[in-house]
Amino acid sequence: MTQFPSRPARVLVTGGAGYIGSHCCKALSRAGMVPVVYDNLSRGHADAVRWGAFMKGDLRDRARLVQVLRDERIDAVIHFAAFAYVGESVHEPQMYYDNNVGGMIALLGAMQEMGVKTLVFSSSCATYGVPTHMPIDETMAQAPINPYGRSKLICEWMMEDAATAWGLSYAALRYFNAAGSDPEFELSERHDPETHLIPLALMAAEGTGAPLQVFGTDYPTPDGTCVRDYIHVGDLARAHVLALDALRAGAGPLKLNLGTGKGTSVQEILDAVERVTGHAVPHIDSPRRAGDPPELVANPARAREALGFEAQWTNIDEIVGHAAPWFAERPVGAPKVA
Ligand code: UFG
Repeated sequence: MTQFPSRPARVLVTGGAGYIGSHCCKALSRAGMVPVVYDNLSRGHADAVRWGAFMKGDLRDRARLVQVLRDERIDAVIHFAAFAYVGESVHEPQMYYDNNVGGMIALLGAMQEMGVKTLVFSSSCATYGVPTHMPIDETMAQAPINPYGRSKLICEWMMEDAATAWGLSYAALRYFNAAGSDPEFELSERHDPETHLIPLALMAAEGTGAPLQVFGTDYPTPDGTCVRDYIHVGDLARAHVLALDALRAGAGPLKLNLGTGKGTSVQEILDAVERVTGHAVPHIDSPRRAGDPPELVANPARAREALGFEAQWTNIDEIVGHAAPWFAERPVGAPKVA
């Protein structure tokens, strides 16, 4: 097992200026570790880097990564930096392989060179493709149906090979739908362009965005709209800290779904947004979006067994409620970031 110094762990967080990465930095800091953010700000936000130092750099720049791993005395890496739009990946596949797979090649090379052997990786339920049974457990064959999911699965394979070749200790965390925002309102969800359901529904309700297009109302689900497993970003962040602790204690490799085990339909999200904001969500029933399976819900049992992880926020009104203030026309309270 790798020997760790007795000082607080110094953790490189690639993509730490992004949505999930920034929440993870806060959780690491709360857990007594020292996050160091590595991000090229192509999709992240500098003002989201509030816990730990910021090292600007591109993930494919191996020399820069080696320099940061050495200068910042990094003990472990949590790797979020990636492009993550399924639709975009279908139209720009090379861009996804270049950034997501190319980035992992550079990162693993730099980690091997510097002897950093602990890695928590942001994977996705998109690596499963169209599920053969529900809920989805980790024994389900991984057969992704789009370049985004394939790029994440290739990264999982690369970590497996690195574990065999030079002793990488890793966790592949397969997220379902990340949702919500920091309950203390210090961080938000911001994507450009925004394509995710909850932010778009909140903007529609608040009148700051267009009416929501409901992609498909004829699915074989109870109300005809797609069902997803929305997991609070704060819970996701905590799961990364637990995974890192487990790896540092000698566990691994870990391949874990991160979800709540509870499905929520698009219509149920619209109902929650209405309850939270007091405004109905103007919406247009629209055709199905290509590549959307009817239902994606995690079996969270393995993460519970391996990490003792259980989602703390499972009430959809609470999850939507933590995101809502950021999308109000005149945000009230703590949120200050434009
Ligand atoms: N939806 C709408 N209208 C919209 C946007 C979304 O009806 O304007 C629906 C979608 O059809 C889907 C649900 O809301 O049924 C959730 O869609 P999101 O775009 O918010 O999230 P996805 O499920 O498409 O994507 C998420 C992650 C991806 C990951 C994928 C795995 O964001 O990174 O899950 O399938 F790859």
